[in-house]
Amino acid sequence: MSETIIRDVKARLVYNSRGEETIEVDVIVGRSLGRAAAPAGKSKGGKEVFYYPEGGVEEAVKIVNDNLSRILKGVDASNIVNVEDALRRYDESIDCRKIGGNTVFAISLATSIAASKEIGIPLYKYLKITDDFKLPLPLGNVIGGGKHAGRGAPDWQELLSIPLEAPNIKLAVKANFKVHEYTGKLLDKHLGGFTLGKGDEGAYAPTTTTEKGLEILREAVDKVSDELGFKIGLGVDVAASSLWDPREKMYVYSTEGRKLTREQQIERVLEYVDRFNLCYVEDPLEEDDFDGFSEIVESLKEKAIVCGDDLIATNPAILREAIKKKSITGLIIKPNQVGFLTRAIEAAEISRRENIVPVVSHRSGEPPEGYLTHLAVAWGGKILKAGIVGGERVAKINELLRIGEEIGFEKIARL
Ligand code: PGA
Repeated sequence: MSETIIRDVKARLVYNSRGEETIEVDVIVGRSLGRAAAPAGKSKGGKEVFYYPEGGVEEAVKIVNDNLSRILKGVDASNIVNVEDALRRYDESIDCRKIGGNTVFAISLATSIAASKEIGIPLYKYLKITDDFKLPLPLGNVIGGGKHAGRGAPDWQELLSIPLEAPNIKLAVKANFKVHEYTGKLLDKHLGGFTLGKGDEGAYAPTTTTEKGLEILREAVDKVSDELGFKIGLGVDVAASSLWDPREKMYVYSTEGRKLTREQQIERVLEYVDRFNLCYVEDPLEEDDFDGFSEIVESLKEKAIVCGDDLIATNPAILREAIKKKSITGLIIKPNQVGFLTRAIEAAEISRRENIVPVVSHRSGEPPEGYLTHLAVAWGGKILKAGIVGGERVAKINELLRIGEEIGFEKIARL
């Protein structure tokens, strides 16, 4: 019997960083234990697979312990394809409705962790699609709003910092922490007092507009850039599907108390890219507006990466469509949007081939682990979107430093 045979699989209910129920799975491969829990989104795209079967997390746990465990015992985990094929045979639906995408994700990740331990290699090597390992640039959420914060916060979901020209990963990581810290001080100064309250991803959630937030973040980024001596970029995740009212066909800005038409929304995005010198724009329009995305890509040329999250939902077939229409220049890869790691890998492979910037991303509700960073390095992610502060975010950032120790701190991805 090969040493990478799955010997046991067991699931349980635990909680994510937002305090929501989630599934955690233990897999024993040979003599090694792999344990992984699934994340969850709040600004969840309509194209994502089902997270759980009807009956929720409890039902998913029961399915694993009563059925999947038996099916998986004896499967050779030396290749994740074997494991996922066994799961596919049990749930043949494309949207994982019978067992849930989060169940698939937790099983696949736990198996990969156990197998990599048993073989004696790091997880990023076990799941690799390239041998040219690079450390992705950390894209950090500094000021947040939208669905990740309460009433009165910026309408755009995330105002982000990215240490574009950091010479090594140590300084890259430090830059985001400094930007976060300094932004707290500036918010207090410019808003006449601030509680330092934070949203779901650890970003400050002030009662202010997107525009004011961007002004403050621009100031913080410029100051830290000067201090550290390299360029730090500013980005946004508009999460525009959360603003979109499909009945009215308008983008609703509740903090600003106004509504924008599609054309006004495009104008607003282009204006802010210019005014605040944004280098990264995620989901500027609602999740079905491929043509609108193409218009923005065309207008911005190389000025900023136009990244698709809800537009694609890590789905390889939709990704091919978006590439054909020239709707994006960057792709968010959130493995639990498709459940199967092999599908996320396919999306990563396509984006690398087609010169689309792969951005491996956390969710707003995360387990407090650092495995996502291994997936980013394994899949050639040029950017790791994992937040800045909060234990579940720092776990991923610290993993960048540990992997840096192995492959070299200066082996950093360039856009
Ligand atoms: P989510 O968004 O709420 O869908 O996880 C998180 C993000 O895009 O950073």
